[in-house]
Amino acid sequence: MYQKPKGTRDIFAPEIFTWQKVENAAKEVAHLFGCTEFRTPVFEDASLYLRSVGQGTDIVNKEMYIFKDKADRTLALRPEGTAGVVRAFVEDGLSNEMLPQKYYYIANNFRYENPQAGRYRQHTQFGVEMFGIDSPLGEVETLCLMKTFFEKVGITDLTLKINSIGCPECRAKFNQALKDYAQKNEDKLCEDCKHRKEVNPLRMLDCKKENCKKVFADAPTLSDYLCESCRSHFETVKKLLEENDISFVEDKNLVRGFDYYTKTVFEFEKTNFENTGKPLAVGGGGRYDNLVEEIGGKKTSCIGFGIGLDRLIALLPEEKMSVADVAVMNAGKVLPEEISFLVQYLRQNGISSEGNLANRSFKNQFKFADKLCAKYVCIVGENELKTGNFTLKNLKSGEEEKLSKEDMVKKLQKYLCG
Ligand code: HAM
Repeated sequence: MYQKPKGTRDIFAPEIFTWQKVENAAKEVAHLFGCTEFRTPVFEDASLYLRSVGQGTDIVNKEMYIFKDKADRTLALRPEGTAGVVRAFVEDGLSNEMLPQKYYYIANNFRYENPQAGRYRQHTQFGVEMFGIDSPLGEVETLCLMKTFFEKVGITDLTLKINSIGCPECRAKFNQALKDYAQKNEDKLCEDCKHRKEVNPLRMLDCKKENCKKVFADAPTLSDYLCESCRSHFETVKKLLEENDISFVEDKNLVRGFDYYTKTVFEFEKTNFENTGKPLAVGGGGRYDNLVEEIGGKKTSCIGFGIGLDRLIALLPEEKMSVADVAVMNAGKVLPEEISFLVQYLRQNGISSEGNLANRSFKNQFKFADKLCAKYVCIVGENELKTGNFTLKNLKSGEEEKLSKEDMVKKLQKYLCG
């Protein structure tokens, strides 16, 4: 038997109902904040990711699905959404249009990670990228959008962690201090961190190994190395978040796994994710004021986030949704094909209905109606066919009445569609 690739999932009812609800909420909230949808290819030139996500990051070092196409191009499946949207912003001339521009996407990403709770090799993100907002209002827009979305889907127990990782100038000084600190503690570091120390010291702060975490708990912190402009930007961000009723904690070791970030970075974290005893980020993002320029465009301040929908949905209760609102049932000598006209009539009038396609007995049609989570059954026996008046039964209240198909539609439209 074929099996799905390791780290991937099949999603179908009832879980798919939660996905649909969450995706609709994402679209509504994105619209509320003036974002339009952006779709980019699921694969790009691999070097786009090397350039933007950065050499020395886990994604680029270990997790990309890279392949050669038949013309020997080196391509990569999208590991994250930002790089593609930024590439399109430059390539499609959007950078010449009026700013700000705000975009959202709901898209699959691929990372060759070790599968575990909330960590898959294919995952879906609801992401937003905003171009051209230089001031701390960018952080306010982004974090208010995230908060509104979480509240809309019913999640209110995430912790927002924020930090500033400064601009390249403050970071260069900090990297040196961190490198010196790591050098002194080299014997306690994992092999990955020894390598990170040379190529990308900041990444050491992201190491998940307990020994390294202990070492870096006492390391120099970036906040002590911020230049005046980055420091005052971050102070204003914090003040505005308070004024906008967004609670946060400052985490001086939060650096995030990408090289493109500048200044503010943030993560919404769920403590004790799915009873694993460990915290896990449900969404994260930050400012990336230099990326557009780095990949060939004009300097443009940007900020964005990605929310992992697989993780988010794992936190939500299962949605109960009717597959069909009305189960039309044949009774007595009436055959399934004789009720088909009524099923189609209901559908033509916008009422989701199902007939007896598998030729079930009368009793089993009730069982099937239950599986469909039908709200009504419509029973069609010989008498109903003759008179044109059908029995409509409300499965919740047990109430029954005889109605013509026209009256039945009026009634169902009122009850089902509000
Ligand atoms: P990220 O933190 O790598 O950021 O991913 C965003 C979210 O996607 C994470 O917080 C997590 O919920 C989810 N996620 C990441 N990897 C996995 C996985 N293997 N399995 C399940 N869920 C996962 C980004 O991707 C940035 N592009 C966000 C951003 C947009 N920054 C600026 N703009």
